[in-house]
Amino acid sequence: MMTGSFPMNGGYGTYSYAKNSQYQREASNVVKEMINKAITEKFDVKNKIATSRTIRIADLGCSVGPNTFIAMQNVIAVVEKKYYSQVLPSEKLEFQVFFNDHISNDFNTLFTSLPVDRQYFVTGVPGSFYELLFPSSSLHFVHSAYALHWLSKVPEKLLDKNSPAWNKGKIHYIGASDEVRNAYAAQFEKDMENFLNARSKEIIAGGMMVLIMVGLLDDFQPSETSTGVTFNFLESSLMDMVNGGLINGAQVDLFNFPIYVACPKEMTMLI
Ligand SMILES: C[S@@+](CC[C@H](N)C(=O)[O-])C[C@H]1O[C@@H](n2cnc3c(N)ncnc32)[C@H](O)[C@@H]1O
Repeated sequence: MMTGSFPMNGGYGTYSYAKNSQYQREASNVVKEMINKAITEKFDVKNKIATSRTIRIADLGCSVGPNTFIAMQNVIAVVEKKYYSQVLPSEKLEFQVFFNDHISNDFNTLFTSLPVDRQYFVTGVPGSFYELLFPSSSLHFVHSAYALHWLSKVPEKLLDKNSPAWNKGKIHYIGASDEVRNAYAAQFEKDMENFLNARSKEIIAGGMMVLIMVGLLDDFQPSETSTGVTFNFLESSLMDMVNGGLINGAQVDLFNFPIYVACPKEMTMLI
């Protein structure tokens, strides 16, 4: 698989994202206070933002819910609290939330499960967040959780038999050669550049962006993480299937996870 989108499982079945996103929900909860503090201290809701009294918020890589609804409700509650501490309640704020994900995301499930008591207007925005998604200077607040580790594509070199980065018999950079890891890092760098360039055009001056990402502590090896252990198990299971004649080796050579986990040093450098 070279390019394309890799949405979460839709619907409400046993393996749906809606029923299997507790981990991400709890992890977002852990950083909730940091986000609230940043909004309270840095988001200039009264002076720069609220001339039209409509706050436009985007959640990039929202999937199907419920996590995105919880995140949006939290952002709105903190922004409102800050705003009404500065102005009269009669000067009411309005919110418009843009839910973005790949076009192949299950937007039907997202829309049918929208909270009935929501106090915001809703818009679905299909498309890759590595491209422009909104008009210039149109967003006040951008949020993205657990989505930016998905690369826009598998680096081409991994599938090229003549490249030193050919990832034969492997499905990721964990446990692979330095060339493979460098190819992943280069793709991540390119993707982040596209992401940040697009957002720099779309967010108004004085706006804010919160990115929650899967990360690796500086100077840690990816193989030491739970993701690393999981990928290694999966890889050796696939190789067992090759050895048992259930699939062929070329299929494994063609399969690589388009996921990259960056560390704070890398992100600081890229930003
Ligand atoms: C693990 S889910 C996270 C969902 C939700 N934000 C949460 O915290 O539970 C990652 C989502 O990012 C989306 N995604 C990945 N790459 C994307 C891209 N380039 N553009 C838009 N959405 C993307 C996937 O389709 C998926 O729905």
